[in-house]
Amino acid sequence: MSLAEISFTKICSVNNIEEDSGKRFIINETEIAVIKSNGKIFALNNICPHQQTALIYDGIIEDGCVVCPAHGWKFDLRTGNKKSGSRGLDSYEVKIVDENIYVKVVPKRFNW
Ligand code: FES
Repeated sequence: MSLAEISFTKICSVNNIEEDSGKRFIINETEIAVIKSNGKIFALNNICPHQQTALIYDGIIEDGCVVCPAHGWKFDLRTGNKKSGSRGLDSYEVKIVDENIYVKVVPKRFNW
């Protein structure tokens, strides 16, 4: 699949995700965490860069961040960056149409 062909994928209804919690989905072979906070929906990669645990969807939400439940690394919900501003998790475009969540997941490209 070329990057130009990648479009938004419908995943679930906004009401399927509780406030300040998340769910995990696999889109284009990429594991993502979809999180609701303050009524907004955010989509981040679900694999923590610290020790590659797939637990971001289950993190605690505080101060606009998700906290990895394994060892407490914090990632900004909007950008996926760490609190320090350095790169953390990939973030994905989200749109809501008729109360349904759509996410655009561009798979990671490897340079080998
Ligand atoms: S695996 Fe996420 S903080 Fe360690």
